[in-house]
Amino acid sequence: MHPSAANVKQLYGETLPPAYDDRPLSFPHRVLRAAKMVVGNRLYDFHTQAIRAIEAAGLARGDRVLVFCCGTGREFAAIRERIGAEGSILGVDFSAAMLARARYSIEREGWTNITLLEADVTEFESAGRAPFDVGFCTLGMSIIPDWAAAFDGLLSAVRPGGGVVVGDLQLTTGVRALLNPLVSWWTRPYGGSLRGHANTRELFARMERELDVVATGEDGHGTYRFCAARKP
Ligand SMILES: C[S@@+](CC[C@H](N)C(=O)[O-])C[C@H]1O[C@@H](n2cnc3c(N)ncnc32)[C@H](O)[C@@H]1O
Repeated sequence: MHPSAANVKQLYGETLPPAYDDRPLSFPHRVLRAAKMVVGNRLYDFHTQAIRAIEAAGLARGDRVLVFCCGTGREFAAIRERIGAEGSILGVDFSAAMLARARYSIEREGWTNITLLEADVTEFESAGRAPFDVGFCTLGMSIIPDWAAAFDGLLSAVRPGGGVVVGDLQLTTGVRALLNPLVSWWTRPYGGSLRGHANTRELFARMERELDVVATGEDGHGTYRFCAARKP
């Protein structure tokens, strides 16, 4: 079952998922969580994948970057390193709790060129804003039931010739499809689902059809993919 947008908002707004949460757990929960982390860490290195996607985006100094579902701002440092203090980032997320963590990092690092917007990305309005050079969304689209509206919003906010980068969990195929239920189970506390991971495949197919793909990469035996493309 694909969680609704309201479920996902509650998950990230009130009961933050385990990786973003410091709440004390009972012993059985700790054991289960440790086991899941072992499986997860064997399957994925999300940080390396995010850096690869950021590198593939071909960011330049001074770029204006839009980050959908920015969460705690995990990717801000790597993006900022490439665009410099003269560039800027707009991070959008509908969870005040996740944004509070992002804000804490921004203040701690003294970054003055990052703005946060608390909003649903499926309703993002690019009208009235200068076009962005690059639009990013990692680990967001697969948990958005109306991913097509979110993707349309990201695409329309980017200038022609600009970059569009998406990284997310997807259903994999062939014998590796045996992993799909495991990945869906493992990511359930984060809003993951088989439906959502199927949506990501559709999204990547749409990127291949409508955009000029410049780089793709996979991890977790094909259950994670990133795609960096240029808007024609
Ligand atoms: C798994 S976290 C990923 C955060 C970050 N991109 C990362 O890789 O660490 C997913 C984030 O998407 C946000 N999100 C999910 N659906 C959203 C929506 N419709 N509008 C805005 N944010 C959304 C959640 O609040 C959460 O912060």
